[in-house]
Amino acid sequence: MITPFTIAVAGKGGTGKTTISSLLVRALIKLGKTPVLAVDADPNANFHEALGVQVLENLGGMREDAFTKSIPAGMTRTEYIRFRFYQVLVEDDGFDLISMGRPEGTGCYCFANDLLNSCMRLLERDYEFIIIDSEAGMEHISRGTIGIPDLLLIVSDPGARGLRTASRIITIALDLGISRSSMHLVFNRYKSGIAQAGVSNEAPLAVIPYDPAVEAADLAATPVSLVPDDSPSVSVVREMALKIIELAEQKEKTRVK
Ligand SMILES: Nc1ncnc2c1ncn2[C@@H]1O[C@H](COP(=O)(O)OP(=O)(O)O)[C@@H](O)[C@H]1O
Ligand SMILES: [Mg+2]
Repeated sequence: MITPFTIAVAGKGGTGKTTISSLLVRALIKLGKTPVLAVDADPNANFHEALGVQVLENLGGMREDAFTKSIPAGMTRTEYIRFRFYQVLVEDDGFDLISMGRPEGTGCYCFANDLLNSCMRLLERDYEFIIIDSEAGMEHISRGTIGIPDLLLIVSDPGARGLRTASRIITIALDLGISRSSMHLVFNRYKSGIAQAGVSNEAPLAVIPYDPAVEAADLAATPVSLVPDDSPSVSVVREMALKIIELAEQKEKTRVK
């Protein structure tokens, strides 16, 4: 049984979380780490577009249904939720995708969230890597619909303002119980000059260049995960994926002990 290594990608809106999450999914697939589980934890979901797949329903909507509509005869609610859960899961070449939707509707969903957590745990067995495209507030983590990640990538512009925001995200993440050592900065859309040193001068895990191919994919509404292999962002994200695989291997060793 594999214990998956979970990577949450956080950062201010528009910094490149979805782009980087998608390129990372692609890099891990190319490095043979299939299947990867992609999780869209941003209520403003667009991870599927970046990955080039369609999503028909999300977990939040499914949960609403399961608790407000009648359950098919002969099925318990728990069975029904498990059954629907596998319908929410989108399967594609080398990866599966699940969209979380909103973390809460109205009323108390503790029971539903417990069930969803147990579904997630069932699922996680099949994946070596889980990539979570998060939103700035990391609400799914704070509400427990997603567990504490093994690695938190904080995406930022390489300037001073971006770093101040990154510091605030680090504070939120610490409050959520994520250890500082599992957080890494990733600078994105780097153009030229000297990228600012990281928060407390730590080196970022990657400095991803501004990539015209990524912009072109966005303009043409084509999946960013399909940008050409020789695009500058692709090779940098591949290097980052290799470092992440190393981190996962280190983590696995501590688990075995
Ligand atoms: N390295 C990059 N080079 C060029 N454009 C980029 C790069 N990273 C992101 N973008 C563009 O920036 C915009 C925001 O990226 P996105 O990944 O959607 O951010 P977020 O998910 O953090 O809101 C998109 O239009 C995307 O195409
Ligand atoms: Mg996004």
